[in-house]
Amino acid sequence: MPVTFQPAWDCPEPSRGIAEALIARGLASREGPDPGGLVLTCGPDGLALTAREGDQALSLHLDLVRGPQGYRLAHAGQAREDLIRALGRLPRGSTVLDASTGLGRDSLVLAARGYRVIALERHPILAALFSDALQRAARHPALESVLAHLDFHPADAGAWLAENDLLFDAAVFDPMFPPRRKDAAVKKEMQVLQRLLGVNADPDAPATLAALRRRVRRRVVVKRPLHAPHLGGQTPAHALRGRSIRFDIYLPV
Ligand SMILES: C[S@@+](CC[C@H](N)C(=O)[O-])C[C@H]1O[C@@H](n2cnc3c(N)ncnc32)[C@H](O)[C@@H]1O
Repeated sequence: MPVTFQPAWDCPEPSRGIAEALIARGLASREGPDPGGLVLTCGPDGLALTAREGDQALSLHLDLVRGPQGYRLAHAGQAREDLIRALGRLPRGSTVLDASTGLGRDSLVLAARGYRVIALERHPILAALFSDALQRAARHPALESVLAHLDFHPADAGAWLAENDLLFDAAVFDPMFPPRRKDAAVKKEMQVLQRLLGVNADPDAPATLAALRRRVRRRVVVKRPLHAPHLGGQTPAHALRGRSIRFDIYLPV
C-alpha cells in the first residue's frame, strides 16, 4: 500500500530524515495522498501513520514513554507476566530474539525484564515508526537502562538469521493473524497496522518458526489468538492460555 509523506513545518530531525530515507528507497512518496491511502505525518512528536475510516481518522503513533507501549512497562500486569512465564522465566541477561517487533510492545517488556533483546521488524514503514520512537525515547533518562538492553534491526528474521550465525536463549514470534469479522472492535492502532500490512500479511510464518527453532537453546514462544490453529499445523510442546491470547511453546530442533 503506497504511503504519502506529509510533514508539518515543525517536523523535527531525525524524524524528517527517517521519512526522507523511505522516499529515497521508493517506499513513500510526496505525491498528494490517494483518498483511501495511508499518510505518514510528522509533527513535533515525530512520525505517525494515519488512515481514514469513513469520517474518522485512525492514527498509529508509537510512544515508548507515555503511550500504550510505555504504559505496559509500568503496568503491564497479566499479559506481561504470561509472556515471561511462557518464556520459562529465563534468568536476567538471557538473550531473546523478537522476530516480530511490530509496535514494539513485547520487545520493550522483554528489555524491561532485563533480557538482552534483538528486535527485528521487516516492514519498512513500521521499522521507521519504531526507529523514530526509539530515538525519542532515548532522551528520557528513565528509559536508559531498558533501551540499553534493546538492539533493533529493520530486517526480515529469516534473512537476518541467515546472515548472523547466532544462538539465542529464546525467541518470541507474533505474526499477523488474518482479521476476523468481530475484529471490527480492534484498537485503532491495530486497524492501521492491518491496513498497512494487508489481510494475508505473514504467509511465510511457518517457515520463520522453523528457522527460529534452529537458533534457540530453550524455546520459541509463538503468540496466537486464543482459538487460532497452530502455526503451519506445527504442534507445540505445550501452550499457555491467557484471556484472549495463547502462547504456543516450541522446543529447539
Ligand atoms: C502482530 S505484529 C507484532 C506485534 C508485537 N508483538 C508488539 O508487541 O507490538 C506482527 C509484526 O511482525 C512482523 N513480522 C512478521 N514476520 C516477520 C519476519 N519474518 N521478520 C520480521 N518481522 C516480521 C510484521 O511485519 C508485523 O509488523
